[in-house]
Amino acid sequence: HPHLKMDGISGLLMDGVPLNAIANAVGTPCWVISADTIRARMGRLRAAMQQAELDVSIHFAVKANDHLAVLSLLRAEGYGADIVSGGELARALTAGIPAHDIVFSGVGKTDAELEEALRVGVGQINVESAEELEILSALAQKHGRTATITLRINPDVDAKTHAKITTGLAANKFGIPFEDAAALYAHAAQLPGIKPVGFATHIGSQILSVAPYRAAYARMATLIESVRAQGLPVTIMDCGGGLGISYRTEPEGQPEALAGAIKAELGHLGLKLAIEPGRWPVGPAGVLLGEVILHKARGEDAPFVVLDTAMNDLLRPSMYDAWHGIVPLSAHDAASPTALAHVVGPVCETGDTFARDRLLPPLHRGSRVAILDTGAYGAVMSSTYNSRPLAAEVLIDNGTWHVIRDRQPLASLWQTETVPSHLAGKR
Ligand code: LLP
Repeated sequence: HPHLKMDGISGLLMDGVPLNAIANAVGTPCWVISADTIRARMGRLRAAMQQAELDVSIHFAVKANDHLAVLSLLRAEGYGADIVSGGELARALTAGIPAHDIVFSGVGKTDAELEEALRVGVGQINVESAEELEILSALAQKHGRTATITLRINPDVDAKTHAKITTGLAANKFGIPFEDAAALYAHAAQLPGIKPVGFATHIGSQILSVAPYRAAYARMATLIESVRAQGLPVTIMDCGGGLGISYRTEPEGQPEALAGAIKAELGHLGLKLAIEPGRWPVGPAGVLLGEVILHKARGEDAPFVVLDTAMNDLLRPSMYDAWHGIVPLSAHDAASPTALAHVVGPVCETGDTFARDRLLPPLHRGSRVAILDTGAYGAVMSSTYNSRPLAAEVLIDNGTWHVIRDRQPLASLWQTETVPSHLAGKR
């Protein structure tokens, strides 16, 4: 984390800004993310593709971090977006990402979402089933549009990642079975309102080895060659996202190795290529700040350190048993001798646990911590469970910090609720 440094006086700094100063001003819980880090990591992805002499366009997977400020900074650098809902489409457009730089993925797009995509002129729709192809053809005809599509193929390759985030196995709900791909592509070419331009694949997330990518791309290359042999043009191959980061000690996925896999398996086919990274560029850029409400001693057993942030803010540890680094903000805390502790949130669920048996300095009431690598699948997966408002968000750009989301006002939690008049009581 080159953007994070411990300063003996100011404590943990991000891009030179003391995180304690941000917590003092906006309170905790609070997400903080480094714009410079996002730019640098996206730049490294882009450079890796260029160095491999690949014609690759990069569509950021909006699901990883859909904040308008993040999308806007990516738009300014010329990146496109990979979206999975009408909401993400609206966000991407609001951030100024042109419709033709947007790719629409997803296993179940509603008619309304597809119609909106056609209306605004989304550049590419990745179709995930024979059924969706027919629906899209009918909708495109109804509106007098042509949908530029790829078929998302499930290559039946094991990405060797967590079961809840693997997508490229035949048993997963995603994509078109490999065996059906060629015939369906030929069928698509006949359908009114449909212009097939190529294929897409995405085998999973937090992938740390390049081998499953190579296996998937090798299968796609075979498919593309056989489809071309039938006389059908294939110009685009969307290689998906999934490159993993280092949450603990595992070496992070290398963009250069991914570029090498794409080059080796698909480089000879003269394709326009695309990737859809989400986690890799933004994950390490962000932290979640929390404060210790109390330290609950348990005699000989490891104590519970109860934070003011919880699973409603950061769901990953509860949902995937994900490991996130936890670092004290104060240099004094950080330098104290460590002991085992369980770090938990105040939500009424045993699963509301950030870390079990973690070696940490003795965190006391009022100590603050940064939970690391929360720039991806962090704030986007928050809920208001236990009527806990969505946390504040801060962006640090070039050494200056900006509040990019206010802590949610309590009243907005029930703003869209109504109570039938016969039940309405007096307040
Ligand atoms: N493209 C498609 C079609 C996807 O489904 C995904 C992620 C991506 C791209 C971006 O993948 P990435 O580069 O971020 O790995 N919430 C989970 C991760 C779910 C990923 C879903 N699909 C987590 O927190 O680990």
